[in-house]
Amino acid sequence: MVHFSVDDLLSKQTGAPAESIYGSFDLILCRNVLIYFAEEKQKRILQRLYTSLAKGGTLVLGASETLYGDLKSRFRTVDARNRIYQK
Ligand SMILES: C[S@@+](CC[C@H](N)C(=O)[O-])C[C@H]1O[C@@H](n2cnc3c(N)ncnc32)[C@H](O)[C@@H]1O
Repeated sequence: MVHFSVDDLLSKQTGAPAESIYGSFDLILCRNVLIYFAEEKQKRILQRLYTSLAKGGTLVLGASETLYGDLKSRFRTVDARNRIYQK
């Protein structure tokens, strides 16, 4: 079952989409959004995505987006070319 909800990636009030009943996600597709933000905000968003993912969950970024610093070592790269990472 796929559950749709609205989320502000820059929100400081919530750690995940407010309507989420799961608390953690098995799959996050976050493509072609990070590129519009400065590095500091990208890092904040990536940390938020990391926290929202279940252990073993998958994160998919856009073709010209990547993980930063500390987070690089906390994900396993599944497919570097297609920007697929596993928590
Ligand atoms: C270039 S579109 C990419 C859409 C889609 N992911 C794709 O790859 O085709 C960027 C998207 O980021 C969304 N966006 C911008 N700022 C956002 C924010 N603070 N929180 C959540 N989404 C945001 C926009 O609404 C837009 O849908």
